[in-house]
Amino acid sequence: MASNSMENTTVDSVSGKALKALLSPCAACAEADLVRWLVPPGTPEALADGMRYCMAGGKRLRPAVAMLAAQAVGGSAENELVRRAAVAVEMVHVYSLVHDDLPAMDDDELRRGRPTAHVRFGEAMAILIGDALLTRAFGVPAECDSPLVGRLTSELSRAAGAEGMVAGQVADMNLCDLPKGLEGLRYIHLHKTAAMIRGAARMGAVAAGADETALQAVSDFAEHLGLAFQLFDDLLDVTGTAGQLGKTPGKDAETGKQTHLAAVGIEEAKRLGEEMTLTACRALEPLGPAGETLKELAILLTRRTH
Ligand code: IPE
Ligand code: IPE
Ligand code: MG
Ligand code: MG
Ligand code: MG
Repeated sequence: MASNSMENTTVDSVSGKALKALLSPCAACAEADLVRWLVPPGTPEALADGMRYCMAGGKRLRPAVAMLAAQAVGGSAENELVRRAAVAVEMVHVYSLVHDDLPAMDDDELRRGRPTAHVRFGEAMAILIGDALLTRAFGVPAECDSPLVGRLTSELSRAAGAEGMVAGQVADMNLCDLPKGLEGLRYIHLHKTAAMIRGAARMGAVAAGADETALQAVSDFAEHLGLAFQLFDDLLDVTGTAGQLGKTPGKDAETGKQTHLAAVGIEEAKRLGEEMTLTACRALEPLGPAGETLKELAILLTRRTH
């Protein structure tokens, strides 16, 4: 038995467990907080069911980035404002996934290992679940009695909105002019994915009372982490299975998306992803040892399988 289990131990399975172990305390906080804060009183039961269904599962990367950024700048991940920031970012992220999966966008039927929102609840309800999650995301931090609420909601708006994630989705859907090649791809990844991961880090740091140097360090880290994260997402779309990913692989090629793989091939794409990850880690140098957990997260994400 023992030798069999060793034979099945690979670098990926070890780093997969390490990634899960690193994310799980933050994920556990986020689960508990979502039970308290996700559905406001007065929500129709059918909508509440849909919101809970869509929020379930996932790696909870963005809450972890917010909470670990709060720690990295010298604060506590347990602070209520940090926790509200963390779940607010996850709500916006999930709304973006619900809308991203719609027939008018990526037309996906599998998400987090289950039918996508429009498959499960119909298209109108999926749009409305997304609307409810986005709106609630601003209510959750705003309901905290803190002078930092205005800064937090402004960070969230910048990360999620017309100059952030939505701009990236517009570009990803080919609905605006873009430079050709890797420059255009960088614009897409910077906006559709890195903006929210950077927003998570900034919100966690702001909620923890970071000074300007520390805020800039976690912000630069998370921007590069986000670029690498989307690059690996595109790689996994080619190399992963539906069982691993909880979503249908092969969709980027099928829908003609621009990716690093299409532009430079798998090996060079991996190298670029690792280079971006090292750039992310270097940005944490001003924080000294307090930045170590975020660095570890970045390294483990280069080996993720979902
Ligand atoms: C998926 O994000 C969308 C991208 C930005 C690539 P995640 O891979 O973090 O998805 P979940 O939250 O774990 O489901
Ligand atoms: C998703 O990019 C980015 C956002 C949802 C904002 P993808 O379209 O590549 O994400 P997946 O692969 O569907 O998770
Ligand atoms: Mg998409
Ligand atoms: Mg998609
Ligand atoms: Mg993808």
